[in-house]
Amino acid sequence: MSHHDSKSASPMQVATGDRAILPEGARTIPIYVMGKRYEVPETLTIMKAMEYAGFKFLRGAGCRGGICGACPTVYRKEGDYKLYFGLACQTVVEPNMYLAQIPFYPANRAKYDIEAISPVAETVHALYPELFRCVACNNCTKACPMGVEVLDYISAIKQGDLARAAHLSFDCIQCGMCASRCMGELPQYHVAQLVRRIYGKYIQPRAAHLEKRVVEIESGKYDAMLDALQKMSHEELEKLYKEREREPDMAPPGTWMPEDTQYL
Ligand code: FES
Repeated sequence: MSHHDSKSASPMQVATGDRAILPEGARTIPIYVMGKRYEVPETLTIMKAMEYAGFKFLRGAGCRGGICGACPTVYRKEGDYKLYFGLACQTVVEPNMYLAQIPFYPANRAKYDIEAISPVAETVHALYPELFRCVACNNCTKACPMGVEVLDYISAIKQGDLARAAHLSFDCIQCGMCASRCMGELPQYHVAQLVRRIYGKYIQPRAAHLEKRVVEIESGKYDAMLDALQKMSHEELEKLYKEREREPDMAPPGTWMPEDTQYL
């Protein structure tokens, strides 16, 4: 654990949110991590605040961008009986939070060969019979830090509507908080992943533009260009990158076309 003195004469620029150095003028607030009190800058996420407090994440942290699902956290606020759920890398600390990290939650994962599977709801029902232990309490949905309608997709799977379940669960990042709160002991996130795999492989219409592009790649359309890129120096590559045509940030979808269309 290393706390740095904010008044040190270091010329280093300190960005707000730096995980080890208290930014000039930043207020600190108390939080509780597994029962122990720490003073941390109020601007930090839970993950950075814990690192500021001296914790080191060997597990329970991955992308740090709200995508990988490695950092679910359960917390309570002072004077509030409710349990709250968030991703440590996304949720900003609040005064007197009581925090516990749940970096991994053991849940049953069925074994299957996606190549050999029959893409129907009965397959999912047979692989995960515990689906029918769901009592529709909705704790799963309340626990989801991504706002996924977990109970709704579980109901859709039970009713055989895999396409609806695939769409409803699309934002799932497999953190497992739903399973941690399930009184029926369902592994919702694993079931949903199977459904999305079935949907992506067997149900969703095939993307014609993707198939066209694969044929183009296989026919060698890009070989010369890749060859030329590989022969370039670092400086040449950097120049090319900086001067490349770029889509304007605010261009409405489908309205922008580059001038150089030779590789489209
Ligand atoms: S570290 Fe990946 S979601 Fe938080």
